[in-house]
Amino acid sequence: AAAGQAPAPEFKQDIARVGVVGTGTMASGIVQVFAQAGYDVVFVGRSQEKLDGVYGYITKNLDRAIAKGRGTEDEKANLLGRLTGSTEREALGDVDIVVEAIAEDLEVKLELFGDLDRIAKPGAILATTTSSLPVTKLGEATGRPESVIGMHFFNPAPVMKLVEVITTDATAEDVAETTRALTANVGKIAVSAGDRSGFIVNLLLFPYLNDAIKLHETGVEMTVIDAAVKETAGFPMGPFELLDVVGNDVSLAIQKELHGEFGEPGFAPAATLEAKVAAGELGRKTGKGFHDYS
Ligand code: CAA
Repeated sequence: AAAGQAPAPEFKQDIARVGVVGTGTMASGIVQVFAQAGYDVVFVGRSQEKLDGVYGYITKNLDRAIAKGRGTEDEKANLLGRLTGSTEREALGDVDIVVEAIAEDLEVKLELFGDLDRIAKPGAILATTTSSLPVTKLGEATGRPESVIGMHFFNPAPVMKLVEVITTDATAEDVAETTRALTANVGKIAVSAGDRSGFIVNLLLFPYLNDAIKLHETGVEMTVIDAAVKETAGFPMGPFELLDVVGNDVSLAIQKELHGEFGEPGFAPAATLEAKVAAGELGRKTGKGFHDYS
């Protein structure tokens, strides 16, 4: 390694088969990322319809790439051939790492981690892509907290380069290093972060998004705020466009978690964010959020 640079992380254990739990936007993108890097991926969802949704998401992305002259139908067929969808968690029994990407709800994740502890083979890494919940607690739901780690991808996972790697006091150093090596191997950049709510990026990003909604509530047009941010700060999207990509349900869950953790009065979720979620206007995935996509 060059002077001042940390040496590249090394695999301390073999990772050949990857498991993903979940079928939403993040899970779908994460399945694509691993399959694109050549890994066999087993992904688990609650119904065949949800599994089909993952295939649909990936097929759409690959078709778009092919239309742009990158990739071929053969490569697409090979990539899809590396995927195995299942409605049974038992299908995760022989994977080397499981990446959990289900609802941002602690109780739901705790139940899953208890079950993964029962199902996953000894030594398998159990990773969560939670964006705000304590990884330590998920580790404590298992009999192997040394194998539990955070691997936080960003939306859209096939595009965004960053992965926050979150270690707890219990995470084994070999597990952390293998996770960083895996992150590099799928073409992403790992940044190590401690197990505090919001890690690095969301602690900065979501209060800003929440403040944008509160600013709009005082009467400033959303399009004006979006345009101002894009034109001055060089952000690729304005806050309302980004909220619609992330999903208002996800944003509300994160903002509530940050508010609960830090107790900052300004972190209280904006009333309009709560209202959007109550109305089912979750963003692009439902065709309407802050902006309309129908
Ligand atoms: N899946 C796969 N690929 C996608 C995609 C998707 N959902 N959306 C866009 N892309 C690809 C396009 O195919 C295109 O690829 P090429 O350049 O190779 O052809 C590329 O991304 C650029 O897309 P577009 O030209 O259509 O549009 P764009 O220039 O506006 O880029 C964007 C789209 C990458 C999403 C960009 O707008 C962007 O970076 N937005 C900000 C995203 C962001 O900040 N994400 C973090 C959210 S916070 C989070 O995720 C934390 C959490 O815990 C919830």
